[in-house]
Amino acid sequence: MTDKKIIAVIGSTGSQGGGLCEAILGDPNGGFACRAITRDPSKEKAKALAAKGAEVVRADLDDVESLEKAFAGAYGVYGVTNFWEHFSAEKETAQAKNIADAARAAGVKHIIWSTLEDTRQLMKPDDKRMPMLQEKYRVPHFDGKAEGNAYFQGLPVTFLVTSFYWDNLYLFGLAPKKGDDGVYSWAFPMGNANLAGIAAEDIGKAAYGIFKAGRQYIGKTVGITGENLTVNEMSDKLGKGLGIGKVQYNAVEPDVYRGFGFPGADEMGNMFQVYRDFEKEVLGARSAETARSLNPELQTFDQWLAKNKSRIPL
Ligand SMILES: NC(=O)c1ccc[n+]([C@@H]2O[C@H](COP(=O)([O-])OP(=O)(O)OC[C@H]3O[C@@H](n4cnc5c(N)ncnc54)[C@H](OP(=O)(O)O)[C@@H]3O)[C@@H](O)[C@H]2O)c1
Repeated sequence: MTDKKIIAVIGSTGSQGGGLCEAILGDPNGGFACRAITRDPSKEKAKALAAKGAEVVRADLDDVESLEKAFAGAYGVYGVTNFWEHFSAEKETAQAKNIADAARAAGVKHIIWSTLEDTRQLMKPDDKRMPMLQEKYRVPHFDGKAEGNAYFQGLPVTFLVTSFYWDNLYLFGLAPKKGDDGVYSWAFPMGNANLAGIAAEDIGKAAYGIFKAGRQYIGKTVGITGENLTVNEMSDKLGKGLGIGKVQYNAVEPDVYRGFGFPGADEMGNMFQVYRDFEKEVLGARSAETARSLNPELQTFDQWLAKNKSRIPL
């Protein structure tokens, strides 16, 4: 038995939870132990966490009893769901309920729920600027998580509002592409609005800061960003940082982007349009200052790029 406070980390083999596990394991005198939750303890990432000292436990977000067992004896829970595995907002909300129910049953002292804002509150229901998706959502992977917030009421929860990962450039194939003329370009329906972005690993590090702060953030919503940059600013930094010359930004209209046809294009089109049309609200809900106070190693875009440039497919 450990006398450390156990944090049961959902998504331990992924970006957010993985960042938290690394933060806990990288601070052996910090007073916390990592219980890494995965559906498959035999996968390489899970074995690597075990080798670094994590307790690896099998559980599934769709199976509340497995979560209850995985949370038993834990001080804290990091809760995250993966919309992109199934593309269903309703399923995400149901998984949030399972996390909350299991945390309640296990008597967990602090839960961090990785959530996003309800974008429907930014527009009237009859607003025609973007389509409703999955019948009742504007941005399903935001709204489904926000609906999940209600299940955590009455629990010792911190709502962690995250930002666009810069890592999407290699994880989601969003990096600029080289044209036949040799010029790199990319398209977003962002106009000249700022995009709140963050190094994915810094989300987990901020979560660790929240756990370390004890009761300070219980009952609070904490929004984090690494740096807010326009796509033109990101293009300049990518051109210089990757040594690929000028990166052309094509500021397409959201309808054009939604029509690109890749899986989730409508969803992403709505999301970027929210970032563009509600820039003030989106940026106002996220703070780099708070993120840096929780994680003094918070990266800027340039720092993230210097560290990750070899991962970006050119
Ligand atoms: N990409 C972005 O810019 C961005 C920004 C903000 C928020 N987000 C949100 O981040 C979420 C994904 O987080 P991530 O990027 O950290 O994930 P990720 O790197 O894609 O990995 C997914 C993680 O979720 C776990 N998982 C998925 N389904 C599970 C289930 N049924 N039971 C147990 N564990 C399950 C996986 O564990 P195993 O496979 O090992 O079981 C894995 O560790 C999405 O919902 C997305 O909306 C993304």
